[in-house]
Amino acid sequence: MRTYLVTGGAGFIGSNYIHYMFGKYGDDIKIINVDKLTYAGNPENLKDVEDRPNYTFVKADICDSEAISALFEKEDIQRVVHFAAESHVDRSIKNPDVFVKTNVLGTLTMLNAAKAAWELPDGSFKPDHKFLHVSTDEVYGSLDEDGGYFYETTPYDPHSPYSASKASSDFLVKAYMDTYKFPANITNCSNNYGPYQFPEKLIPLMINNALNGKKLPVYGDGKNVRDWLYVEDHCKGIDMVQEKGRLFETYNIGGHNEKQNIEIIHIILDQLREKLDDSDPRKALINEDLITYVADRKGHDRRYAIAPDKIKAEVGWYPETMFEEGIRKTIDWYFEHKEWMENITSGDYLKYYEEMYKA
Ligand code: NAD
Ligand code: TYD
Repeated sequence: MRTYLVTGGAGFIGSNYIHYMFGKYGDDIKIINVDKLTYAGNPENLKDVEDRPNYTFVKADICDSEAISALFEKEDIQRVVHFAAESHVDRSIKNPDVFVKTNVLGTLTMLNAAKAAWELPDGSFKPDHKFLHVSTDEVYGSLDEDGGYFYETTPYDPHSPYSASKASSDFLVKAYMDTYKFPANITNCSNNYGPYQFPEKLIPLMINNALNGKKLPVYGDGKNVRDWLYVEDHCKGIDMVQEKGRLFETYNIGGHNEKQNIEIIHIILDQLREKLDDSDPRKALINEDLITYVADRKGHDRRYAIAPDKIKAEVGWYPETMFEEGIRKTIDWYFEHKEWMENITSGDYLKYYEEMYKA
């Protein structure tokens, strides 16, 4: 039975990945999820797997080298899938330090622990032991509105403290691959959406605000473009890269699904109205009047767009969920998980929201 060490598995993509992996491999794999449970980590995301005998949760910081090394000493971990990170650009603009600590130093700790556990006396590594570093397209910087795509060969040009910290972590992984032949891959993915996403990010924030009759804050002119991918397709891509990709390679993951932020908001409003019964008092409140243009994000990247040619050609991955279907599934999920949203939008979230949006 192959053992996975997943970092950040209580967050948005990590929890979707754990569900995806148990759905695909069932009892044939074992997953150890190590997560510090920051504001973004939510054990509720994993309620339906927590009793599985082949699942273990460990609350630890990825910067804690003793705790991480102990996990490698206890088990023969064959796969590391490294999601844990501070992930929100707006928070990185307000407080960059924790981004450098977790994203850069935390990644270094993970690399050192895996290297120490997997390296053989001759400097080679145990066969079939692999590390996958989950990264973002934001490391490539910003594209013009009228053309171009991010390829694996596009030079790094990060602008926000978040993307700079992810770029640094990518470079560390590259350095370990180049220097030690450390068995790893890097994936750089575009914006994800789907179940369990924390409502500080565009799509769940807009769904939650609209359902509560709150303003929909649009940064700048609303015409910034993101390339949206349904989270399950990302999870599938990660697994395929780890099992079918060439070691030491980077793979871009994206669905050729570019949309302006304002388009996304209109789609959400239309779908919410469609979903609500005429008798539901919220229906009348959910309209374009909620859209409120606010000050632009500092250093706001204009456009991201991934060219997924390499992962398609080499690994056979393609995005299965078209946006129309994905956003419908996402909205349905938030409707069915009202309590999940209520639990996380109380307390600290309210403080964050008030400070961020001066509500
Ligand atoms: P998230 O913020 O929802 O989750 C991050 C998880 O990491 C949380 O469970 C949190 O508790 C945990 N964590 C944070 N600091 C930690 C620490 N020091 N030690 C242990 N655990 C810690 O993030 P996400 O959106 O799920 O993103 C996961 C990864 O995917 C990140 O590396 C991110 O850069 C990358 N990524 C995200 C997107 C996206 O659209 N969300 C796109 C491409 C790549
Ligand atoms: P976000 O979900 O934070 O992802 P990222 O910045 O990593 O791409 O933001 C997606 C886009 O939506 C980005 O262009 C910023 C914009 N945005 C708003 O206009 N209003 C908001 O309240 C948020 C959170 C984001």
